[in-house]
Amino acid sequence: MPHRSHGHRGGSIEGRHSRVYDRLARWLMKPLYRRFAADIAASAPEGASVLDAGTGPGLLLGAIARARPDLRLSGIDLAEDMIDHARRNLADLEERPDLRAADVADLPFEGDRFDLVVSTFSAHHWDDPEAASSELARVLRAGGRLLVYDFRWAPFGALTRRPGLTGVGRTPFRTGLGPIMKVARFEARAD
Ligand SMILES: C[S@@+](CC[C@H](N)C(=O)[O-])C[C@H]1O[C@@H](n2cnc3c(N)ncnc32)[C@H](O)[C@@H]1O
Repeated sequence: MPHRSHGHRGGSIEGRHSRVYDRLARWLMKPLYRRFAADIAASAPEGASVLDAGTGPGLLLGAIARARPDLRLSGIDLAEDMIDHARRNLADLEERPDLRAADVADLPFEGDRFDLVVSTFSAHHWDDPEAASSELARVLRAGGRLLVYDFRWAPFGALTRRPGLTGVGRTPFRTGLGPIMKVARFEARAD
């Protein structure tokens, strides 16, 4: 379902495309977000600040909030429309995530702000993954981690090409959907 180039600005998914994506994701992908959230929840430190980069309709944030209510959650997306969907989808959470429209390559946060940055199916849309990597390194605290889940052909290598992030490893991620959706889990650490 997720695919590059949806018209509009860069890899942003807007308008009718965002409405279709929101509906399909809510209908089909919740079990997958629960798997990602369980993996994230297993390694996030107590009370950690977590950013979801390219959050789309925010379903991953919802799954993380349910698995780990102690985490402080933020999400950004290039598409205002997606942020609107995320606000609606997360409206019933007790602690609402901080949601903002922003480019991953130009983040509206001070440095050393997050313990963990996560991202699902967004990195392959990023126009400039190297610039994104510099920004993610800037907002992560030293020792903080980046966890990116995406198709195997996503530009994982570009995420550690600039100083600031060191690759820890890339492994297949079991989606529970068999061969339909082959996903890789990429991990890097902020220097
Ligand atoms: C396929 S969707 C994935 C959304 C969500 N992470 C999920 O798993 O359902 C890709 C998202 O990345 C966003 N995106 C694309 N380029 C971006 C960028 N440079 N900065 C932030 N978000 C971006 C799109 O607007 C879209 O919402």
